[in-house]
Amino acid sequence: MSRLAKSVGITATGQFYPQRIVNNHELAQMVDTSDEWIISRTGIKERRWVEPGVGSSDLGVEALKMALANRGITADDLDAIIACTVTPDMLFPCTAALIQTKVGATKAFGFDLNAACSSFLFGLSTAASMVASGACKRIAVVGCDVMSSIADKKDRNTVVLFGDGAGAVIVEEVEEGLGILDFEQKIDGKGAPHLFMPAGGSLKPATAETVAANEHCIYQNGQEVFKNAVREMAEVSRLMLDRNAIDPKDLKLFVPHQANNRIMEAAAKRLELPLERMANNIMYYANTTSATLPTAMHQSLEAGKVQKGDYVVLAAFGAGFTWGGMLMKWAY
Ligand SMILES: CC(C)(COP(=O)(O)OP(=O)(O)OC[C@H]1O[C@@H](n2cnc3c(N)ncnc32)[C@H](O)[C@@H]1OP(=O)(O)O)[C@@H](O)C(=O)NCCC(=O)NCCS
Repeated sequence: MSRLAKSVGITATGQFYPQRIVNNHELAQMVDTSDEWIISRTGIKERRWVEPGVGSSDLGVEALKMALANRGITADDLDAIIACTVTPDMLFPCTAALIQTKVGATKAFGFDLNAACSSFLFGLSTAASMVASGACKRIAVVGCDVMSSIADKKDRNTVVLFGDGAGAVIVEEVEEGLGILDFEQKIDGKGAPHLFMPAGGSLKPATAETVAANEHCIYQNGQEVFKNAVREMAEVSRLMLDRNAIDPKDLKLFVPHQANNRIMEAAAKRLELPLERMANNIMYYANTTSATLPTAMHQSLEAGKVQKGDYVVLAAFGAGFTWGGMLMKWAY
């Protein structure tokens, strides 16, 4: 029994990363760090960063083109585009508008959704609800972020953690009994001081001083985020399984937000899942924020790790704090 009024699910995926690889040795030239420290504390070996002049919409549109091609449809078949991002090309217009025009989705409306690293999960549930209500037939959910644009290149605590990338999915009605079965979403603003961008918003608009102090970049209390991320991603995933009477051994794929390999492995351990059943791309791409879940799903599909009818759980955690989980029975 689905939480939605109709059976709605993902029917295609796509992804895109910029070409430039930034490995840990390159970062060790910028800040006081080492390849050994980064790999042992985060599991990250390298990440992709865009060249100047490339925005989140440029990555998102390429991921969306791949998802459309994989589904065998054109951009004109979309009713809506939800762009999930914390690094919009600009504060306005929304990145969804830029993607819409670049991909040529002449019949679609759209909007951006920002819930930090939970953006894609919240966007996916929003799209699914819009399709289940009958308001839309087919929606593209695009997770795209250029985290290098807000990474403090002088702060070793954060610069090593993030990468740029995009993933996209097509959401529509699927065969009865398949698709998104359940989801749970949470927000708690008490977490705000632990992960935020101090300046550049309405509260503290950018000035020469804020830019000089790198306040337009990510600030993070890593340990506080770490412990909350492990607890909440494990708990919400467990809830998805318990509420639907699914034994963890019947879960084919666990797709956690890719923030730190130690967080992901700790969450999988709490679920008593073998690591082969956890999607993991952090080593090569780092934390791409809104793109981690769709790219990890796309790569798992490409690797043949998921088949029609398999149970898949997504888990996300991000600034806010925001977090959530989703249970799917893979639809194709
Ligand atoms: C940031 C993070 C990797 C730090 O790892 P950690 O094991 O918790 O390390 P600590 O915070 O205990 O820091 C230990 C030391 O390493 C140092 N350190 C931090 N980054 C470093 C780096 N890149 N290279 C070398 N040393 C570093 C710290 O300065 C600290 O030094 P100090 O003890 O002299 O102050 C980890 O806390 C983390 O991944 N947090 C969550 C990140 C996340 O998920 N963010 C996105 C959420 S969606």
